Amino acid sequence: MQEKARILVVDDEPMVCIALTNWLKEENYLARAVHDGASALEALREEKWDIVLLDYKMPGMDGLEVLARMKELASQTVIIMMTAYASIGNSVRAMKEGAYDYIVKPLDMDELAMMLRNIVERQELVTENLLLRKQLAERHVYENIVGRSEAMQRVFELIGTVADTSATVLITGETGTGKELVARAIHGNSSRRYNPFIAVSCGALPESLLESELFGYEKGAFTGANRTKMGRFELAHGGTLFLDEIGEISLVTQVKLLRVLQERCFCRLGGTVPTEVDVRLIAATNRDLLREIEAGNFRSDLYYRLNVVNIQLPPLRERKEDIPLLVECFMEKFNVEFNKRFDRIEKKALEAMMEYRWPGNVRELENVIERAIVIDQGPEIKASHLPMFRSEALSTEEPESLEDVEMHHIRKMLERHQWNVARTAKALNIDRTTLHKKINKFGLERP
Ligand SMILES: Nc1ncnc2c1ncn2[C@@H]1O[C@H](COP(=O)(O)OP(=O)(O)OP(=O)(O)O)[C@@H](O)[C@H]1O
Ligand SMILES: [Mg+2]
Repeated sequence: MQEKARILVVDDEPMVCIALTNWLKEENYLARAVHDGASALEALREEKWDIVLLDYKMPGMDGLEVLARMKELASQTVIIMMTAYASIGNSVRAMKEGAYDYIVKPLDMDELAMMLRNIVERQELVTENLLLRKQLAERHVYENIVGRSEAMQRVFELIGTVADTSATVLITGETGTGKELVARAIHGNSSRRYNPFIAVSCGALPESLLESELFGYEKGAFTGANRTKMGRFELAHGGTLFLDEIGEISLVTQVKLLRVLQERCFCRLGGTVPTEVDVRLIAATNRDLLREIEAGNFRSDLYYRLNVVNIQLPPLRERKEDIPLLVECFMEKFNVEFNKRFDRIEKKALEAMMEYRWPGNVRELENVIERAIVIDQGPEIKASHLPMFRSEALSTEEPESLEDVEMHHIRKMLERHQWNVARTAKALNIDRTTLHKKINKFGLERP
């Protein structure tokens, strides 16, 4: 049977020491006795003791002095003073110096037994708590990525495993599931972390621009190229290149990319001298690339080059147990940003959140919390602060076609954001290219 605690007895009277250590052993504690302050300090230096029973009056150093040194040496150790003189004054001084309690000699063994039991229980709690908090900190937030669900735990593990390799990683998941966050975490946990992390949003650029962004160009490569420009591949040398929205790149660019991956070198546009680069590639997409391959929009050879390791981020609706924790983290984040003091969420609001489908995933949740915190003083996030859960949002009008609804909503959001496309796209959880396409499709015009 394991001892309940390790107890050091410090007393200059041998009889007290023998009696006390025997009794402690019977009570199932590990006990040892020393006879003076100097040996006590040495014992503390050598081993970890949970509790010290310290005699107040000893030849040489007195108890108070030993106490002070012990606190320096082992601040976690609980010290109980034993005093033959029931002088409150001394005991209070000892408590001020950091003693946990005192007990009067001759000892009342029932009193001592109770005192020790309390201490052991308290220490167990403290250790458990520390452990718990440490586990929480380690497991539920990883490099800014919040997630306690099993799916996210696996993602954390995978990030840890692949980070310090040079394997190409393909991150897949719906919009707003944290693909970029994961890409940054991989870079941040690799030995490349002191070199650049360069992100390219492939969907945001037209084909010709994308190529010159990626590979750079030589002076005179085309009209307007009046100086040599380095591409993102070169800029990312020694670091990580993050190709976001890889599903959007054209077949022509796919071929060029494939060549770089195979040969680890490339030429700037208009150039003939190949440039070698040491770049770790991470790609992300919210498309189902296998379907795109079937449809002939994506090259399978490039797919296999990119998909050496696949990290799949599950949509938020499939890991709802992450929602409360995410709410808490975003609450904290926006409290700081907007100087508010939100500290809880109405039960009804949280329930509604657990029910909701979250098409925009974590980004949408983040926006919802941000908005709730901006528009109110707190301290509680209420269901009435959450636009999509208000009853009037569930429109009673005649049903329109899905396209009508989409068009009206896009127009409304554009107006809300003064026709700022970037901000509107963010609010709608779509990228700018998609928004532009929709604006053209619906023929929306700025008034
Ligand atoms: N697990 C998470 N914990 C904390 N914040 C998250 C998490 N997942 C996403 N976010 C936040 O949500 C927002 C969107 O994340 P991110 O840009 O990484 O998503 P994405 O998958 O790249 O989306 P998209 O496909 O639209 O580009 C960011 O503000 C990010 O900080
Ligand atoms: Mg992204």
